[in-house]
Amino acid sequence: MSEILIRAENVTKTFVSRKGRVEAVRDFSIDVQRGKVVCIVGASGCGKSTFLNMVAGFIQPTSGCISLEGKPITSIEPRCGMIFQSYALFPWMTVLDNVSFGPRLKGVRKSERYQKARRWIEMVGLQGFEDAYPGELSGGMQQRVALSRVLANEPDVLLCDEPFAALDAMTRQIMQQELLHIVQKSGKTVIFITHSIDEALILSDTLVVMSARPGQVKAVYDNDLPHPRKLEVQLTDRFLKLKRQVWNLVQEEVVGSMTMPVIR
Ligand SMILES: Nc1ncnc2c1ncn2[C@@H]1O[C@H](COP(=O)(O)OP(=O)(O)O)[C@@H](O)[C@H]1O
Ligand SMILES: [Mg+2]
Repeated sequence: MSEILIRAENVTKTFVSRKGRVEAVRDFSIDVQRGKVVCIVGASGCGKSTFLNMVAGFIQPTSGCISLEGKPITSIEPRCGMIFQSYALFPWMTVLDNVSFGPRLKGVRKSERYQKARRWIEMVGLQGFEDAYPGELSGGMQQRVALSRVLANEPDVLLCDEPFAALDAMTRQIMQQELLHIVQKSGKTVIFITHSIDEALILSDTLVVMSARPGQVKAVYDNDLPHPRKLEVQLTDRFLKLKRQVWNLVQEEVVGSMTMPVIR
């Protein structure tokens, strides 16, 4: 039976600064079921990060509510772990110390935290690199370290804010497969922000298209592409049909929000 883990109800966020008011997200409602991957796609600046930051509890909605297991999220939520595009690793710490940093803050004994960290390092395919420093690793490997560092905190929910956007195309595809593998093995719930439609179709169980700012839910798709989602799925008719549908929706928003001068 499916269980709703996270529910956003009529969430609106307006930023007020000296420059004025910016309504980033408007009347945004989605349900996220436990153990599922929800991908949110939308044009740059439509409010994707703002929404994710509210789920993490970093900022609060202006109105509406986001709840986890039925309880409103009112401060930084330890059951959610955030993965950003920038890896934000400590350059002076080894991979092992980076990954076990969260448990160290919680006072977990060294032997125990190292043992657990090694498991997560293995899960992301980095065994053998425990004693390396971030500067000695490629971008893809650093993002793996960042992922295992978040996993070491044992969150129920992974919040991913375009984590693979800076990676080259090949590495990005490998990371997508790794993430699917981890999700399948660990049963984590994932909200994944991207502006790549291909990435959203590969990863998601549910795909949410956001409108241009203020970000609203424009469409929700149940992604019925079969699992396991190997890369070849991208060549199937079903994938291309879904891609065209989503692309058309996103394109409407991009064109609608453009204020380019007309060149005659
Ligand atoms: N702290 C803030 N103060 C004022 N405006 C903000 C703040 N954070 C985001 N915004 C504005 O909200 C809108 C949505 O931003 P964001 O959520 O980062 O978009 P996305 O992640 O979809 O690219 C943008 O216009 C941005 O300038
Ligand atoms: Mg963003």
